[in-house]
Amino acid sequence: MALPIVFAFLFISFTLAQSTTTFNVRSYGAVADGRTDNQKAFVRAWTDACSLNGASIVYVPRGVYMLGPVVFTGPCKGPIMFLMSGVLKAPSGPTDATTWINFRSVNKMLMKGGGTLDGQGSSAWPYNKCDQNSNCKQLPISLKLDSVSNSRFESFRSVNSKQTHISMFGCENVNITNVEIYAPADSPNTDGIKMGSSTGIRITNSKISTGDDCVAILSGSSGIDVSNVVCGPGHGISIGSIGKYPGEKNVDGVSVRNCTLRGTDNGVRIKSWESPNAAVVSNVLYQDIFMDKVQNPIIIDQTYCPYASCNQQMASHTQIKDVTYRNIWGSSSSEVAVDMECSKKFQCKNLVMTDINLASHKPGVSLKSSCSNVIGRVFGRQNPRPCF
Ligand SMILES: *[C@@H]1O[C@H](CO)[C@@H](O)[C@H](O)[C@H]1NC(C)=O
Ligand SMILES: *[C@@H]1O[C@H](CO)[C@@H](O)[C@H](O)[C@H]1NC(C)=O
Repeated sequence: MALPIVFAFLFISFTLAQSTTTFNVRSYGAVADGRTDNQKAFVRAWTDACSLNGASIVYVPRGVYMLGPVVFTGPCKGPIMFLMSGVLKAPSGPTDATTWINFRSVNKMLMKGGGTLDGQGSSAWPYNKCDQNSNCKQLPISLKLDSVSNSRFESFRSVNSKQTHISMFGCENVNITNVEIYAPADSPNTDGIKMGSSTGIRITNSKISTGDDCVAILSGSSGIDVSNVVCGPGHGISIGSIGKYPGEKNVDGVSVRNCTLRGTDNGVRIKSWESPNAAVVSNVLYQDIFMDKVQNPIIIDQTYCPYASCNQQMASHTQIKDVTYRNIWGSSSSEVAVDMECSKKFQCKNLVMTDINLASHKPGVSLKSSCSNVIGRVFGRQNPRPCF
């Protein structure tokens, strides 16, 4: 079934790969008619590729493949490429699965090929309902990476996910580059790229238009690098929310550079719940960021308490410290362009703002900044006038 071919150049960074073996999903009976479910063919192709002693390629040729929820499990015996040139279409409607395409425990994987993941979200979004404690019906995440390490995901599109487009948990050294993410501005909970308990994640050269956060960095993330990403519409680049659950881990080392936010609700945001759950957010750099008609270009919100379950009497127990904003310019669509509401119990410490140059997108309106419980310093140009 497998076609052995010499394809080593595709694995340039995957050393030791002299030759690779290709496992074409069509040879496993996959039908690209957009209707037949191809779950079995895809999983069998993956399983054979993964158990090969050496480098392998799971190849999805051009065409539209209906694909039910799949789990591609490792560890694999060698480096593995998921070469997706076709369009994968999720089943329509809400499903009981919490993930659609799930890679688990895979090391040295490369996904590329210019293909598309079509989550068929519009058939499921009406079922997205949350209760008053913010517990929502879990629609499936389009691409979920669990314990994936030393891997690259590049050159593909994700459209109309039912929930988050790409979500990572327990991942290490994963680069996501040249991806295009799209869902309508009013699609619920369609985060672009979300991560938790992950280390060494790089997101570069990508375009994310969606209904929720562009990038969301959650509990236990460290060494996160976001650069050359264009966001909008959506809710912007977020750290948090932090502190909703007990036992959340710290977020340390986040760099967001050379990004554009276009028409988003927030630009760069750090958000934590008013709760007794302790965590630290530290070593964050936002540099060379262009805001284009962003509602809240620079925002820290530690007074987040939208539901009855959190205790408004209590301050956030998330400590935010060592955050630098450097060279942020463009336009704000609200009057308060810099809004920093830090915890009254754990003041924000060592916030540094250098060269902030924001203007209202409406002529003649001057912008303001607002802050509480902030200890920091400012350098260079400051527009609006700093509040600390
Ligand atoms: C991700 O990118 C960084 C910086 O270019 C590089 O050092 C690292 O090796 C890359 N990781 C993978 C898995 O390709
Ligand atoms: C910054 O991002 C823009 C695209 O938004 C890109 O054209 C430019 O090369 C990037 N600059 C650097 C220094 O990476």
